[in-house]
Amino acid sequence: MRSKFFWLAVLGFSILAGIISCVASDSASQSSSGSVPAAILPDITDDYEYNSDETGNLSSTVVEEIDEPPVEPGELDIQTENFFIAERYVGFLTWGYFSHPSVAAPVPIIDSSVYDSYTGEELGLTQIIDTEMTDQALTLLANALLAYAPEVEPFLYSIDKDWLTHIVLDTEGLKILLAPDITPWDLGFVSVIISYEDLDDVFLLHVELGLREPPRLPMIALTFDDGPSIYTGMILDILEAHGGNATFCVLGNRIHYHPGILRRAVEMGSEVIGHSWDHSNLTRLNANAITNQITRTSTAIEEATGQAPPPIFRAPYGLTNTRVVSTSRDLGYALLHWSVDPQDWYHRDADVIYNNIMSRAIDGSIVVAHDIRISTVEAMERVIPSLIEEGFQLVTASELIAYFYGELEPGDIYQGLRLPWGSYNGR
Ligand code: CO
Repeated sequence: MRSKFFWLAVLGFSILAGIISCVASDSASQSSSGSVPAAILPDITDDYEYNSDETGNLSSTVVEEIDEPPVEPGELDIQTENFFIAERYVGFLTWGYFSHPSVAAPVPIIDSSVYDSYTGEELGLTQIIDTEMTDQALTLLANALLAYAPEVEPFLYSIDKDWLTHIVLDTEGLKILLAPDITPWDLGFVSVIISYEDLDDVFLLHVELGLREPPRLPMIALTFDDGPSIYTGMILDILEAHGGNATFCVLGNRIHYHPGILRRAVEMGSEVIGHSWDHSNLTRLNANAITNQITRTSTAIEEATGQAPPPIFRAPYGLTNTRVVSTSRDLGYALLHWSVDPQDWYHRDADVIYNNIMSRAIDGSIVVAHDIRISTVEAMERVIPSLIEEGFQLVTASELIAYFYGELEPGDIYQGLRLPWGSYNGR
């Protein structure tokens, strides 16, 4: 095989060099026909080619004789700039000229690429600028060019998106390089930088470059009362599968029945708060008894999860009075109510529970449900992926409160946002 490729290479070079020698083409056709057994061919070297005639006699020809370059080599005068931005994007710009005695003027050479280290892919223009805003991008480019060299003005009549072919991400902004066949020739290559700030929404990678906060996704806090139970782990499985968190409002006297489950919840990023020790109606208790219901449960949560719960709890039945509120305040606790109640304790039907949540939950809602029945788990198998599909992030109650209300205020009651009474969203 080696000899076959060698002959083909010789033939190819001969054509390139413009000297097609009879020897070379004959030998190429003969060796590819396989008329000479490979075993009797001597070693091929770079200096000789071996030929055979029909009698099998071998002859050799010095290849060097046809190896002479027929023309003078051209010259490349090229520069390259490399970029590594935001520890993510790498890119390069290359520009320069190829010149040769046979070419009247040097030929401009220009090339560029930007790669995303995270994906390993090359970025196209559509991933860097919003192509629906190409006109704005070109206006910015025209202004930058005029500031750089006023003599480009007559050339700007032909500005179009092709002028955005060679762009890279620089630290300051988008760097755009134009070859001298677009702009006035004697300017040479022209590069301008348009700042990311000036580009504004034309530029698509502000967040990736760390220049802007990512847009906030609307958030909903799912809360589950009266556990832990055998259903708590099923809810965690669903949250884990779809990527979401929730708040588990647990009864202190049930915690020891389900070792490990609350620790798992916390390790997944969900939170566990108290819902009293034994589901007593706190409004019928004195301050000491209320204190006991709250603190005893918090201690049990801390023992189960390894960390103290956030200073917020959910009163059984959502019932509070001034004594419950003032006792909570004294203990440093806030109260967690809700804005969406699918009444899963009453409707033990996954479809009804699902519809009740989906028709009422909005950005900022706190949903109350119960991780003590299979119908609620079945509803959550659809609610959780549906809400995420609609663009919601499922956060803990503490996270939702921190965003919508700011720092937790002891004694305050947080219930989340709701649609006006009687209205439903269009799900
Ligand atoms: Co309850």
